[in-house]
Amino acid sequence: MTTFDQILPAAREVLEKHSEFVASVDWLVINRDLNGRVRFIVPEAVETNEEQRKQLVAVYRVFGERIVPHAYPPESGLLYEAGLEQVCQDAAHYPLEGFAKIWVVDRLATEGNWSQIAPEAAGAPRIVFFSIKGGVGRSTALAACAWKFAQLGKKVLVLDLDLESPGLSSSLLPSERQPAYGIVDWLVEDLVDNADSMLDDMIARSTLSHDGEICVIPAHGDNPGEYIAKLGRVWMPKIQDGGARESWSGRLQRLLRKLEERLKPDIVLIDSRAGIDEVASSCVTDLGANLVLLFALAGTQTWNGYRMLFDHWRRGRVAECIRERLQIVAALVPELEPAIYLADLREHAYDLFIETLYDEIPPPVEGGKDRQGVERWSFDLADELAPHMPWIVEWHRGFAALHSLHGRLVSVGDDEIRNVFGDLIGRILRFLDWGNGYPRVSDGGAF
Ligand SMILES: Nc1ncnc2c1ncn2[C@@H]1O[C@H](COP(=O)(O)OP(=O)(O)OP(=O)(O)O)[C@@H](O)[C@H]1O
Ligand SMILES: [Mg+2]
Repeated sequence: MTTFDQILPAAREVLEKHSEFVASVDWLVINRDLNGRVRFIVPEAVETNEEQRKQLVAVYRVFGERIVPHAYPPESGLLYEAGLEQVCQDAAHYPLEGFAKIWVVDRLATEGNWSQIAPEAAGAPRIVFFSIKGGVGRSTALAACAWKFAQLGKKVLVLDLDLESPGLSSSLLPSERQPAYGIVDWLVEDLVDNADSMLDDMIARSTLSHDGEICVIPAHGDNPGEYIAKLGRVWMPKIQDGGARESWSGRLQRLLRKLEERLKPDIVLIDSRAGIDEVASSCVTDLGANLVLLFALAGTQTWNGYRMLFDHWRRGRVAECIRERLQIVAALVPELEPAIYLADLREHAYDLFIETLYDEIPPPVEGGKDRQGVERWSFDLADELAPHMPWIVEWHRGFAALHSLHGRLVSVGDDEIRNVFGDLIGRILRFLDWGNGYPRVSDGGAF
């Protein structure tokens, strides 16, 4: 049976066999439409060149036979367009592995596009808290980081972007401090140019702020209103007056820029949705994150999930744009035999990175030298600074199944935060150049 996954291998095989034709065209797009059917799109010049057109029809016929249910009849499977840029516009696209002039364009039913990676933001550092599985203590860890950074006198901007399952804001705010509006309201009102007047009414100041400040932007306001009806519209792109299309995640980036201009934070913490989801894709790839924390529990579900994502980046040839910002976090490390647990997690994380995102290191030639002398991005299993080396959050009964995290954080002490989240927070502090760590009380050091 021929399925979707055979489309690209078949394309590579067929196009390799017709290398003369491939060499003769300026570019060729393998366009996978919403139903997973494939057309070839080529420059208009090919249509008027009798010989080239004949060859194109022949190549598409052979390819179509290979992927039958995913192909069109040859007469409707070919399209001619003026420029490659127009064809790729607003769609996920990447070069076909092994070919310089051939592009894969994916028309997706979702707005999520994991294969386009925005460059790192230049202003306050942005840290995204992501996990492939839910319920791993991501939001709690984010709240603990916000608590600590505020204690250090920093101004922290927190965005609850877990729009489908919001909750972070209630852990940082008492109910009477919830603002009138949230991110979902802004995204919906923006569609009718009515959003900017609500900006001040979607910022709440947390009472947990100590010497600094925690500004929380919740997913919804104190009265969520018709939340589901609004949520179903946040993904809408906006068509500007001149006809230009701004994707929903472009709108979200605009919101973040406005909030940063208004609040001038020292750091932005973003609570992403878990899993391979549209909002998560925006948080991880579109918001210019400087650091993406990948929370992980031991187990095949975690590694299979991250592998799908990393493979996608590798295939889309964007691994290099994102990999240096990734960091594995060992979530909820059990009290019992933590060293064994962490060693297992580290090994799985290492296997994943080495098979997908680290550069291959060619075997040394005699004399121990690298053959090409090229710098390669790869790490040893035991390298403390490697992204696969987990930053640790301990499981602690004091944070398990809490009725109210806010209530807990009101009375929490520095030692408690340090003992559970100290490794994670200390490593973030080092990443930011804000300090030299945050060791556990039992490890002796004071921050
Ligand atoms: N360090 C910890 N030790 C023990 N329990 C914890 C810890 N951190 C969080 N928890 C508990 O684990 C549960 C999930 O935590 P949290 O909501 O922070 O996870 P999440 O990854 O944000 O979940 P979701 O995917 O639903 O947003 C909660 O009941 C919380 O009290
Ligand atoms: Mg959460």
